[in-house]
Amino acid sequence: MSALLAVENVTMRFGGLVALDNITFFMEKGSVLAVIGPNGAGKSTLFNVVTGVYRPTAGRVKFDGVDITGMPTHEVVRRGVARTFQSSRLFRDLSVLDNVIVGMHTRASAGVLDVLFRPAVARRELATAVEKAEALLRESSGPLYEQRYRPAGTLAQADRRRLEIARALASQPKLILLDEPSAGMDDAETDALVADIERLRAQHPELSVILIEHDMRVVEAFPEHVMCIDYGRLIAGGRFEAVRANPHVQEAYLGTAAADA
Ligand SMILES: Nc1ncnc2c1ncn2[C@@H]1O[C@H](COP(=O)(O)OP(=O)(O)OP(=O)(O)O)[C@@H](O)[C@H]1O
Ligand SMILES: [Mg+2]
Repeated sequence: MSALLAVENVTMRFGGLVALDNITFFMEKGSVLAVIGPNGAGKSTLFNVVTGVYRPTAGRVKFDGVDITGMPTHEVVRRGVARTFQSSRLFRDLSVLDNVIVGMHTRASAGVLDVLFRPAVARRELATAVEKAEALLRESSGPLYEQRYRPAGTLAQADRRRLEIARALASQPKLILLDEPSAGMDDAETDALVADIERLRAQHPELSVILIEHDMRVVEAFPEHVMCIDYGRLIAGGRFEAVRANPHVQEAYLGTAAADA
């Protein structure tokens, strides 16, 4: 069986800095992979390489059997990869609902010409989009549906992160990349996030998830596939318990909050 995602010997250099150093891993359909590692290890850079924000200096990224190395981001999204960002990229002045509809944009087919010359078609498509967006908002553990007409910028921090996930799901991805989804969440909100991800997986058994996480509560909830990056290198991979016990991992975290994990 071929992997859904194959990252093969990927190196990413920024000038003299090696942000990713010969990274190789494979991911099966329907699995969850947690990526851990200290600040500046290269985790977000990995997402940027997979989603086409950066073309790697060396190596290949294959998704669903296709080489997507350096493909433009919109093309990668169209092929089924969605993501959230470490720092919010919501449209703060747009409503919660519109932010989700924007996430569908790449899949909607009605354009300006349809609106002008085939208004019924455009209207029908918009109505369908609203329905789908509302369904996504209802599935979130937060009050997103109730607050769907509010500007996204007025949401509480945890709800903004939930909205980012709903927006990413709007493109109906096969793989979703979550960059520190629990950042800024308290323990109860983090537990709700874990429950959201678990429910999502139950509803979409084929969906694959990569989580970048500093919060070991989240990683512990998805213990099957964990990998640790340090200075751009993949220093450990496997089940959470094994990765956590790995001396290289403990050394990498020495002096940081996760050292007592
Ligand atoms: N566009 C860029 N140009 C130059 N250097 C970059 C660029 N993007 C990332 N880096 C550097 O690459 C390294 C890895 O950064 P990255 O953001 O991937 O780390 P991270 O593991 O996500 O860290 P954090 O946990 O703090 O989010 C850092 O040293 C960072 O400064
Ligand atoms: Mg990061």
